Amino acid sequence: MVTYVNADSAPIKYTGQIKLYGPEGFAAMRKVCAITSECLDALNDIVKPGVTTNEIDRFVFEFGADRGVVPATLNYRGYTKSSCTSINHVVCHGIPDDKPLREGDIVNIDITFLQDGWYGDSSRMYAVGQIKRAAERLMEVTYESLLRGIAAVKPGAKTGAIGAAIQSYVESERCSAVRDFCGHGVGQLFHDAPNILHYGKATDGIEMREGMIFTIEPMINLGKPDVKVLKDGWTAVTRDRSLTAQYEHTIGVTKDGCEIFTLSPKDIFYTTTSK
Ligand code: MF3
Ligand code: CO
Ligand code: CO
Repeated sequence: MVTYVNADSAPIKYTGQIKLYGPEGFAAMRKVCAITSECLDALNDIVKPGVTTNEIDRFVFEFGADRGVVPATLNYRGYTKSSCTSINHVVCHGIPDDKPLREGDIVNIDITFLQDGWYGDSSRMYAVGQIKRAAERLMEVTYESLLRGIAAVKPGAKTGAIGAAIQSYVESERCSAVRDFCGHGVGQLFHDAPNILHYGKATDGIEMREGMIFTIEPMINLGKPDVKVLKDGWTAVTRDRSLTAQYEHTIGVTKDGCEIFTLSPKDIFYTTTSK
């Protein structure tokens, strides 16, 4: 049995209960998520051939430091970087390193800032120079799948409606949705209940209610959905080495739909090389 609690009177820890946030929570999330989104906007000018993912990671750290926020991934379960940088066939949790990005790469950059106890989690794809049409199409399909997932959010519907919308769309585009990672409740915890699956039936999951805050972050593959985690314990790659993409928003459920907290201030959340 799933239970819902008022976030103001719930302990700030994982209990499996669904926290419902009020206006103060929504206001705090707007603030931290705006910084995450500004940083992702700023990265548009940083990502180019020759730049290393460690340089990107340092930029993210400094961007946060200048604004008094901390990357939540730093020292999270042994992770030691300020961002995740997932290139080409890397599905998620790519660890920044000293290898330069190359013309034609596509890279997901995932950032979670922590401000006064509140977490703002978002990620986008970046094209490194000119990319192949197949890569551009995958990014297009993945972004559209996130929008379709978001459109399924409203009180009374099940969280499964999100996954069903995403899976049916990406499969109609001959792509596949990764099963091994999911979206998650977020707010005053980085990863909270419920899990938000990016596949399944509209009748699966739990009922959405006003005040819930969670991420939707579909990882979509050109090939099969299967992934494996490399020996570093973090880097997840497609088993068939096919190209993969991901976009992530943090959203809050409202009376008749949802509010997207991590919209791009510059309206460049989704960009391709041809635009
Ligand atoms: N930001 C990721 C998410 O969307 C989590 C990264 S955890 C890390 O949930 F440790 F890998 F950084
Ligand atoms: Co997330
Ligand atoms: Co994230």
